[in-house]
Amino acid sequence: MTGETAHGLRGDYSRMRPDYTVDQEWDAYSEAEHELWRRLYRRQLSLVEKYACDEFCDTLRTLRFDEGIPRFDAINRKLDAVTRWQLVAVPGLLPDLTFFEHLANRRFPVTVWIRDPEEFDYIVEPDIFHDFFGHVPMLFNPVFADYMQAYGKGGIKAHELGAIEMLSRLYWYTVEFGLIATPKGVRVYGAGILSSGGEISYSVDSPKPNRIGFDLLRIMQTLYKIDTFQETYFVIRDFKQLFDATAPDFTPYYAKLKGRAPYPASAVLQEDHRY
Ligand code: PHE
Ligand code: CO
Repeated sequence: MTGETAHGLRGDYSRMRPDYTVDQEWDAYSEAEHELWRRLYRRQLSLVEKYACDEFCDTLRTLRFDEGIPRFDAINRKLDAVTRWQLVAVPGLLPDLTFFEHLANRRFPVTVWIRDPEEFDYIVEPDIFHDFFGHVPMLFNPVFADYMQAYGKGGIKAHELGAIEMLSRLYWYTVEFGLIATPKGVRVYGAGILSSGGEISYSVDSPKPNRIGFDLLRIMQTLYKIDTFQETYFVIRDFKQLFDATAPDFTPYYAKLKGRAPYPASAVLQEDHRY
């Protein structure tokens, strides 16, 4: 299912439609691939029970992803009924604008291939386990689902305004690596943490990283690491805070931040609220 191609991205981009979607071809997964999925799932299940937010865990339990690589068509019937989102199968990473257009239309792109067994603990590029296990349960939450669509629409605008870099930091520090404060303590809602064997306990329990209260403009000017555990996580109070803070038109925010040098990933500022 995998292979390096001329553009340097993993995945087979030779048979996609103009919107980069492909058929999932569920029957083509091997028994070894299903078994790898089950191993990944089992390991991650015990971790999310301890570290993930209730919104994630409650949905995960109802979805029955434990039997093997899930079928997109089966999940789509359930997702459509709850938040009107749909999964679309893709070969791998997408161009920014293509990705934003899918989100803006409540379509979530999911990579069709699964990692190699050697990548059990860590993978750089998103595979089906990350995309599915990490992202799909959260798409069943109505407020988060609306945030994802709003992000897609905002992305199309940021593309025109040359502000993708700033907006990408928001995606990174929320959708991928977000933490949420709950009565039980800080919990995880970011997919990049939820699908990671090592970072999930680190993000919540380790004294090393900074955990800082969500601040939209602060996030949009903070760099991030793509190949190590994060040095900083941002903590929301609830999903409504995320939705409301991002509702205004970002055009003046981008203008304000344009000339400023970004903060390093490890920065702690005097005005940060630390958890
Ligand atoms: N309100 C943002 C804008 O005008 C769009 C957005 C919403 C961006 C949610 C990210 C998340 O650009
Ligand atoms: Co992701």
